[in-house]
Amino acid sequence: MKTKILMVCLGNICRSPLAEGILKSKLNDNTDVLVDSAGTGNYHVGDPPDSRSVAIAKRYNLDITNQRGRLLTAEDLKEFDHIFVMDQFNYDDAIELAESDAEKAKVKLILEEIFPGENVDVPDPYHRGDQGFENVYQMLNEACDVISDKIQKGIY
Ligand code: 4NP
Repeated sequence: MKTKILMVCLGNICRSPLAEGILKSKLNDNTDVLVDSAGTGNYHVGDPPDSRSVAIAKRYNLDITNQRGRLLTAEDLKEFDHIFVMDQFNYDDAIELAESDAEKAKVKLILEEIFPGENVDVPDPYHRGDQGFENVYQMLNEACDVISDKIQKGIY
């Protein structure tokens, strides 16, 4: 059965599209994994990723231009196996949609993968400059290395 991984942020135009693109690139042609992303807010439904996320992705040879913003739904909590949120606000919003403890258990701060138990957020870069996006890229790249490793080992 396919492992289904969902990356979640607020707008689904800055952080989670990058996370989706980075993880997909690490999984190469592993067809047993589905990676998608969504936002907890509806401001950018149907929009392409923010130009600053597109630019940082391009710098690291990733093309995320085909992604489009979509809203996180209660159905996602059933459909996906692992739901990686970027910050505590996303966490609270995602948990609100869960209808069981099993669904709640799927939701995890993505930086738990590299800083377990420390409750570290991927900071919202929307109102920051380009350095914010570089910083976000580096954090997500490290976290996705761990996630990809766990997938290859069958842990996820
Ligand atoms: P994201 O960043 O959650 O990383 O996609 C944001 C994008 C847009 C907004 C907030 C955060 N916004 O308020 O429109």
